[in-house]
Amino acid sequence: MWSYDKKQTEILDIEEGYDRFAHDYKKHHKFLWDFDKNLWKRFMPKDLEWKVIVDLWCGDGRVSSFFAWKNIKEYVWVDVSENMLKSTKAYVTKIKHDLNIKFPIQDNFADIVISLFTLLHVDNIQNFLEESYRILKEDGVFVIFHHTERRNYKYSEWRNYFKIHTNTWNYKQVEELLEYNFFKYKIYEVKEDWILNWKYYVCSK
Ligand SMILES: C[S@@+](CC[C@H](N)C(=O)[O-])C[C@H]1O[C@@H](n2cnc3c(N)ncnc32)[C@H](O)[C@@H]1O
Repeated sequence: MWSYDKKQTEILDIEEGYDRFAHDYKKHHKFLWDFDKNLWKRFMPKDLEWKVIVDLWCGDGRVSSFFAWKNIKEYVWVDVSENMLKSTKAYVTKIKHDLNIKFPIQDNFADIVISLFTLLHVDNIQNFLEESYRILKEDGVFVIFHHTERRNYKYSEWRNYFKIHTNTWNYKQVEELLEYNFFKYKIYEVKEDWILNWKYYVCSK
């Protein structure tokens, strides 16, 4: 399903958009690192031994190498795009699922839940946070990286340009819903030249 914006660029739904973009996503890694500065690692517990990690909307597993060779119990990738999930890692359990609806994961399952660069794609943000709370263990940590966008980002596939559906959730909306869902959270602001650009939310139950 798709529509057009004013300049006639196709706006694709998430699944089709990322299925088409997947083969090129690796080229995009540097761009994403420039945004999140790889700081999410700082919010991980020191001891990863025997931990269960869930990456909500993992993409192609951009951050997965951090967990390799650590003696973790289980590492679960969830994404709606089959092609994004294709990247093979022996130590990963992959679940293809649209996270706007109830997650196919049991209560109190994860020690660590991460969600980087994905909130903007969520339509049902209340469900997303409620479900993240449900799957997180009592002493677990949930790390969100969020940035606000006023426009859909433009992707390209060979010479075809397209955009992928995004929302414009602002920080206040996210924070209100974190509270509504009983999360305790700390904010780490990512600034450039003293101007706030992006935020990490480090959340617990
Ligand atoms: C910008 S990428 C971010 C991927 C990864 N977290 C990273 O930091 O590289 C967004 C990912 O979220 C997935 N996604 C977006 N909406 C989704 C949904 N409703 N359910 C499941 N996955 C979704 C897309 O397929 C895509 O792989």
